[in-house]
Amino acid sequence: MLLFRELNRGKCKTYLIGCARTRKALLVDPVRENISRYLAFLAYHQLTLDAVVDTHTHADHPTGSFQLRDLVDARLIMHRRAPAPGVTHHVEDGDEIAVGEARIGVLYTPGHTPDSISLYTDGRVLTGDVLLIGGTGRADFAGGDTGAQYDSITKKLFVLPDQTLVFPAHDYRGNVSSTIGQEKQHNPRIAGRSRVQYIELMASLKFPMPEKIQEVLQPNQSAIDDDRAKFPDLAELNRVRQLAADEVSAMLGASDPPLVLDVREPTEYHGPLGHVSGSVLVPLRELAARASELEAHRERPIVAVCRSGVRSTTAAAILVGMGFERVYNLKDGMVDWNDRKLPVER
Ligand SMILES: [Fe+2]
Repeated sequence: MLLFRELNRGKCKTYLIGCARTRKALLVDPVRENISRYLAFLAYHQLTLDAVVDTHTHADHPTGSFQLRDLVDARLIMHRRAPAPGVTHHVEDGDEIAVGEARIGVLYTPGHTPDSISLYTDGRVLTGDVLLIGGTGRADFAGGDTGAQYDSITKKLFVLPDQTLVFPAHDYRGNVSSTIGQEKQHNPRIAGRSRVQYIELMASLKFPMPEKIQEVLQPNQSAIDDDRAKFPDLAELNRVRQLAADEVSAMLGASDPPLVLDVREPTEYHGPLGHVSGSVLVPLRELAARASELEAHRERPIVAVCRSGVRSTTAAAILVGMGFERVYNLKDGMVDWNDRKLPVER
């Protein structure tokens, strides 16, 4: 009844989950360079691509999700904290994804990134980069949080039945699958460790920064697929001052209120999360070309805003690079602004 297959045969895994009766299929974590192979596989097996899921915003390879969504009109599903525009369905912990007659449960498992989910179906769990076979994903970049990762693994994944098969998004040692029971007992990073011990261990592992991380991460975060696009580097991004939603709200109520610069797409600006009253919309992809429109506001503080605070950090870094001095970022974006029940317009 359920079709299940790993399609890459490499270190980076892409899984197909399909419904044998309706021939509808879901791809998890497609890699851009393999899109033609996936489409050929689907056609050969007479499957229709119904949906694509990214378990998180990837930092190590360009995602194939945006292109697949456009090529075959598939739904693009990610957690609601995912930064990129163009995700057609946002999910949260406990949601269910239907693919034909198959049902796939969503577990929110942050840690590796703030938008990491695991997928549970038919005795299998796809763990993204949170729980690996005999390892765990690193949690030291892209908003990672080692403590949250420990909680995700121990409270969301290790409570699944012991015989549940584990399929991670990466494996560097040639493993194909494991089980929850096996990882609970023998995973050298986490088995038998307390939360504090796990955080200490992860901090002691001095991982090198992946090559070209910003060149991969920023297009995946922003869905800007243009080779000519120039993104700020890490040092520039780190210079952006982050403000919590409450701080921005207080600034807006004071004298000399900041200009709120919303860098999302127009559909998002008028979408379910709404926008801050009086904010100016300049999508990130147009910012460099339209920066002259902001010249009149050079003397004012500017707060950059997007969905989850990632694209807007890029935007703020671009403005800092152009010599704007009082530029801030709304941390965690409109998702957090809405969670705090701050006022929006739609
Ligand atoms: Fe990852």
